[in-house]
Amino acid sequence: MISKIDKIKQELALKIITNLEELEKFRLRYLSKKGVLNQLFEDFKLLKSDDKKQAGLKINELKEFISEFYTTHKNNLSQEATHTTNYDLSLPGDFQNIGSRHPISTVKNEINAIFNRLGFTISDGPEIEDDWHVFSALNFPPDHPARDMQDTFFINKTPEIVLRTHTSSVQVRVMETTAPPIRMIMPGRVYRNEAISARSHCFFHQIEGLYINKNVSFADLKQTLLFFAKEFFGTSTKIRLRPSYFPFTEPSAEVDISCTCNGKGCNLCKYTGWLEILGCGMVDPNVLDYCNLDSKIYSGYAFGMGIERIALVKYQVKDIRIYSENDVRFLSQFSPVL
Ligand code: DAH
Repeated sequence: MISKIDKIKQELALKIITNLEELEKFRLRYLSKKGVLNQLFEDFKLLKSDDKKQAGLKINELKEFISEFYTTHKNNLSQEATHTTNYDLSLPGDFQNIGSRHPISTVKNEINAIFNRLGFTISDGPEIEDDWHVFSALNFPPDHPARDMQDTFFINKTPEIVLRTHTSSVQVRVMETTAPPIRMIMPGRVYRNEAISARSHCFFHQIEGLYINKNVSFADLKQTLLFFAKEFFGTSTKIRLRPSYFPFTEPSAEVDISCTCNGKGCNLCKYTGWLEILGCGMVDPNVLDYCNLDSKIYSGYAFGMGIERIALVKYQVKDIRIYSENDVRFLSQFSPVL
């Protein structure tokens, strides 16, 4: 009996089944009523009880092997059959709804890329910040209105933990931990306790820029911003700097770009011919010292722009609320990302 089983095993080891016809022959030979397995079980009944234990084990092993062999081949062959016979390869493919990038991401990526080309690397900081990084290290006097409840979302009063109101807080983190030269841009989301309207929101996005080195001048700042404006808005773009005030820069300026109406005056520029895009200035020596950089050795410039504002100028979307409403009718107008 044992040698008979071994012989069947050898026979099976050489079996190759390539189609359903061969598989049916296999089934008839091994698994049918009068097949090899049933015949073995018949023979088994006639064995002496001493021999039954070992033979029983072997037959069961063989049965399992044959059943598995059969089902695996059956599955493979039936899958193959559907693949080869049920597919119409001339049918057009299913339409894939791939969506599009959010305009804020597109604008952010484009700004990042322009500054990357000038050697600026990207840095990041937390949205929940302490008073030091958002205000104190940036030279805000203790009674500055920006610290007020009306402008800032407070998480905790003492110690003061806030939702950052601007990405300038990342400047401080970078200066505290990096040795100059520093050439970085810092994109991120910011929060302000403002009434939501077409022109303002309680959260929006900014990109901060910072360059710290020896002998950095205002001319470096102006040239960098002119390069950016021409790259982003087109080569014929002009810029204009107006004196301004920020606690963390001295001198400070606001930057306008020329409107596409070429000074003729339009609704977008409110008939001035200019569009405000960002704030900037030379980093105040106090800020450098607060961040443990020697203001007698180093100087630098900084700038900050609102991404929604830049997107407004680029796409002329006049209601800031639409950026965060997830309305597919708005979002699907922006070209798909392939
Ligand atoms: N932090 C300013 C704001 O949120 C923007 C800004 C102005 C950033 C001037 C700067 C800068 O780095 O130099 O309005």
